[in-house]
Amino acid sequence: MSAGLRVAAERVLAQCRQLALITDVPGQTTRTFLSPATRQAQTLVAGWMEAAGLVVQTDAIGNLRALPRGVARSTPRLLIGSHLDTVRNAGAYDGVLGVLLAVALCALLAPGEVPFAIEVIAFSDEEGVRFGRPFLGSLALIGESVPGTVADSNGITLADAVARFGHQPTASATLDAAAFAYFEFHIEQGPLLEAEQRPLAAVSSIAGQTRQRLTFRGQANHAGTTPMHLRHDALAAAAQWMVELEARALADPGLMANVGSIEALPGVGNVVPGEVILSLDLRHPEDSARHAALDAITPAAHQAAARRGVSCSMETLLDQPAVLMDEALTAALVRAAGQCGYDARPLVSGAGHDAMILARRIPAAMLFLRTPAGLSHHPDEAVLAEDVEAALATGLALLRNLSPSQG
Ligand code: HGY
Ligand code: MN
Ligand code: MN
Repeated sequence: MSAGLRVAAERVLAQCRQLALITDVPGQTTRTFLSPATRQAQTLVAGWMEAAGLVVQTDAIGNLRALPRGVARSTPRLLIGSHLDTVRNAGAYDGVLGVLLAVALCALLAPGEVPFAIEVIAFSDEEGVRFGRPFLGSLALIGESVPGTVADSNGITLADAVARFGHQPTASATLDAAAFAYFEFHIEQGPLLEAEQRPLAAVSSIAGQTRQRLTFRGQANHAGTTPMHLRHDALAAAAQWMVELEARALADPGLMANVGSIEALPGVGNVVPGEVILSLDLRHPEDSARHAALDAITPAAHQAAARRGVSCSMETLLDQPAVLMDEALTAALVRAAGQCGYDARPLVSGAGHDAMILARRIPAAMLFLRTPAGLSHHPDEAVLAEDVEAALATGLALLRNLSPSQG
């Protein structure tokens, strides 16, 4: 491997670690949609993009859009990107690694070395932490924006958040007609590549996901005087349902079910919880299996509620079908990795990615990098320098092999 690639890989890692220090919550890495930390992170990344010879613009939803200077609108362009926002108390590599690898590739390529332009995109929101709805940046890019009326936990609407951010969009939040394909580098965020001792893998498909907000409504009452059989305990109903949800997911190796947040109201120890709001994240590589699981767990929630005189309502925040990555582009990626000596046989992604949104409009492909200990959405998330170097080598080989007609 060339010394230049190792230097570039180390620089990307240092940049990821530097970005991880930019946070809305001191002592951890948390950057949400159009937050103060996001503005700081965008400024830092835009500087790195400019140093790589790119002209940086921001679109109306706050995506960073970077192109080499003087690219004609008619020039075919390959989009390479990922997201800058994070989950709460995140690691340093989810999303940002993909953006910074794209910038590094632009710096490694000689001007005019490939017959197309590369547009680097840093999406403003993929995780959906602030509004509960993910992919705000990439959905806007393909013209399927989330309604501006959705509100965050402080009652600020998406439209207000954009207005308050006060940036002056210099690019339209639309997909340019000259865009012929989308490519995303991302950490695997799971244990498979480490188990197979492989640094890289292409992605065959991305599991579908349903995100819901469930509300169990019972009756708050005195914890010391209300007889157990007379209670309408919203938290007991939710708890029973969660155990049934877990049992169902344990019975199907492809089904992933998660209740990541739960709020019991009024939230004090001597009051029977009258209301519980919780999140459901349900995923499966096969949409039919995910929907079958939903058809089972929805009545189960109503039954767990009814036996306690509690009601249950569900609000669907996302119903994202599973998405196949583009076969030809993925085969080209596996070939490029093979040229560099890596076995990048494709695997299924349990994590969602902006590529699944771009794939609705243009051919999309992804390259995963091994995740040590399979740990992600966690401050100890890591990536190996040699795997970053492998990804850069593979990315360069792909770009040098690619022609706009392959997109
Ligand atoms: O949640 C996910 O699948 C991704 O990390 N946004
Ligand atoms: Mn993530
Ligand atoms: Mn991600």
